[in-house]
Amino acid sequence: MTAESDNRVHIERAGVVRMALPAADAFPLFNAEGERRWVAGWVPCYLYRAGAGVGEGVVFQTTRKGVGTATWTQTRHDPASGGASFVFVYPDHHTAIVDVGVTADGNGRSRASVRYRMTSLSPDADDYVRAFGEAFDSYMGHWEEAIQRHVVEGVPLPGIQRGQSPLQLRSSHPLTVADLADQPSAIRRQAAALLVEGFDRPKGWPDLHAAARELDHVLASGFAFVAVEHDLLLGWIGGLPQYDGRVWELHPLVVRPDRRLRGIGRALVAAFEDEAERRGACTLTLGTDDDSRQTSLAGVDLYSDIPRHIAELRDLGDRHPFLFYRRLGYTVTGVMPDANGPGRPDIYMSRAVRREE
Ligand SMILES: CC(C)(COP(=O)(O)OP(=O)(O)OC[C@H]1O[C@@H](n2cnc3c(N)ncnc32)[C@H](O)[C@@H]1OP(=O)(O)O)[C@@H](O)C(=O)NCCC(=O)NCCS
Repeated sequence: MTAESDNRVHIERAGVVRMALPAADAFPLFNAEGERRWVAGWVPCYLYRAGAGVGEGVVFQTTRKGVGTATWTQTRHDPASGGASFVFVYPDHHTAIVDVGVTADGNGRSRASVRYRMTSLSPDADDYVRAFGEAFDSYMGHWEEAIQRHVVEGVPLPGIQRGQSPLQLRSSHPLTVADLADQPSAIRRQAAALLVEGFDRPKGWPDLHAAARELDHVLASGFAFVAVEHDLLLGWIGGLPQYDGRVWELHPLVVRPDRRLRGIGRALVAAFEDEAERRGACTLTLGTDDDSRQTSLAGVDLYSDIPRHIAELRDLGDRHPFLFYRRLGYTVTGVMPDANGPGRPDIYMSRAVRREE
């Protein structure tokens, strides 16, 4: 059905996805967490998560290039009947109700009935909603194919396979880079503690409370990865969107003091870059404070000649982190004078995303 008699375009479509999986294995594929296994670029950012991020009442956001950020609410989660429902809204663009019903199909197979009711929210989105309705049957075909390929056959999705492929470091320690959102509370506590204890110069977060708030903010607004060895957190990195997601800010980054200079920082930055690219970044950026006179930019009148001060930037012997970022390909693009008090600037660095043509 397509209705245009009211103010905006509204479509209702239903289809079936057939899967070579028992219903009990297929049902968990249709929620915020499960879709990570078969939808490339699906990265839910939780605003409210009950338990493992599935269940009625879970609220999360996803970002789609060219459309924006959708806020999703799971309104039904009934493993016994195989039913799951969601409502999502792309502000000023479109909203939809999605109902999924997973049932057994004999011989260890199952089928998901999928129903979409979508309404445009602005004249600009009318065509998008109409086109979605027209392409709905092919979407069902793509879903079937993606589940077969990435879940049944186990072919990895494009992009990094977080938490699955240990990276081999120079030290020959196996290191797993995993999504911080999926980590148990013990790892999250270590991540907050590292923000307090892992920074000396530049200084870190004042206390655990402030650090935990920062961690929640990063997870709610962007993404974060941890480097872990068994149940020990070795370091973590966050990414925050700017300029509608065209720019992603690396914030924060910290490695355990006793594990530095072994390639962990580099591995975390690589994970940040992959994920930011997957989310559509053109530019990767960061600010690295000099609040304790570690560089030639501290304690001087930067306004006298900002380009010259940047061009002549030197480390004063304490190995300020700008050296680390420069090694990884970041360029100083600016400076914020007195960001941390008189004579204590923030150094801005960026790099372009390397795109494979
Ligand atoms: C900055 C930090 C994240 C680097 O992590 P790390 O795991 O030690 O870095 P890596 O071992 O991956 O280093 C990658 C490269 O950068 C170099 N490097 C690392 N830290 C450096 C520093 N402070 N100065 C100069 N070079 C540095 C390494 O020698 C290595 O060089 P290579 O290419 O010859 O191998 C870590 O020192 C840290 O957590 N510091 C405290 C928190 C902090 O300052 N965060 C950044 C704030 S913006």
